[in-house]
Amino acid sequence: MKNIVCVTGTRPEAIKMAPVILELKKNSDFNVTTLATGQHTDMLRQALKDFGIVPDVDLNIMKQAQSLDYITSSVLQGVGKFLDENRQDLILVHGDTSTTFAAALAGFYRHVPVGHVEAGLRSHNLALPFPEEANRILTDGIADLFFAPTEGDAENLRHEGKSENIFITGNTVIDALYDILERRKGMTEPDYIQKIQDRPMILMTAHRRESWGKTLEGICAAVIDIIEERNDAVFLIPLHKNPAVRDVIKNILKDFSENVIFTEPLNYPEFVYAMNKSFFILSDSGGVQEEASAINKPVLIMRTLSERPEAVTHGTCILAGTERENIRREALKILNEPEYLKSIIAKNKMPFGNGTAAKQIHGIIRKFLDIQ
Ligand code: UD1
Ligand code: UDP
Repeated sequence: MKNIVCVTGTRPEAIKMAPVILELKKNSDFNVTTLATGQHTDMLRQALKDFGIVPDVDLNIMKQAQSLDYITSSVLQGVGKFLDENRQDLILVHGDTSTTFAAALAGFYRHVPVGHVEAGLRSHNLALPFPEEANRILTDGIADLFFAPTEGDAENLRHEGKSENIFITGNTVIDALYDILERRKGMTEPDYIQKIQDRPMILMTAHRRESWGKTLEGICAAVIDIIEERNDAVFLIPLHKNPAVRDVIKNILKDFSENVIFTEPLNYPEFVYAMNKSFFILSDSGGVQEEASAINKPVLIMRTLSERPEAVTHGTCILAGTERENIRREALKILNEPEYLKSIIAKNKMPFGNGTAAKQIHGIIRKFLDIQ
């Protein structure tokens, strides 16, 4: 029996690692441990629960307004202790968070092979997104198995001198999305639908660390500008749990209750429903770019560059930047120009795979661990 530990710490890691955990658990040759670092508490557990996953181990590290030093050192020590007490044949990490890097480092220090799911993404700018670009590079620097979603991601790895064990699998978020579309069948309509009726709904999420402060305030000002020109528009804003984000957004937009609906973070089926219902999405999220490409929903990305260039080439995702005026202009263009909206509904092949990434990863791991 081979021991594999799958590490998750934040909401997107849970959503994107869930298909891999569920797939590996089908195999009786593997003893699979789901380890939650608890970098996020409620948002992580909620996302795992949406897939029926209960962590076997929860390090529960989260503190209010936690620092990067704190997350990194707590995860390193916590995962390290787990690995010392429980011999593992493989540690799987996902993506680009501090959990990802610190857990990979704990594996590396103990010569436990590290598999990186969603390897090779690069913005080629260490400041954008921060600290995620560094986390990806550092994780790939010590990983043994690279599950790259796209050819472009694999090429980034080769460019950095990696030549072995690079596999192009598609992104596991597509598997997660298809799974949740099945699970959410029969779900009732949320209450906010009453308010929206036929009005154009814009789903907005924002949380990036490099946007905290003035940039986030400018984004909120752009929302007000848009409402002033299109009084029928409704913004649905599921607020991230981070007070550095939610308090600012709430404070600036609290007086616009006719046009702004705040919710707690939506569970994954509810969020997928909201993406589908929206006219377009305004977001700085990584995962949302991939999901939106799969359901052909336009996204204005509130960033100046993306480590997912395929989403932009695909057509559905537009780099709007973080400047108030650019966001206003791009949003109004989508709202006011039906022909423009039609033109960005992409006709190209969706770039992030066909929903079989987890199955492929399973097969590759079997071979890597020498299981016949
Ligand atoms: C983290 C990741 C980021 C990822 C994002 C996904 C790092 C450095 N950042 O950013 O890469 O894109 O998650 O959402 O790894 N909080 C709660 N409850 C929760 C979650 C967060 O109260 O369930 C609050 C806490 O006060 C916490 C704060 O949010 O201290 C920040 O959480 P943290 O994980 O440090 O940063 P995120 O901005 O969530
Ligand atoms: N998401 C969710 N509920 C929400 C907001 C987002 O389930 O209220 C999902 C979304 O579908 C995507 C993931 O969370 O899969 C993105 O997480 P986030 O934006 O926090 O992180 P990022 O992808 O930017 O790292």
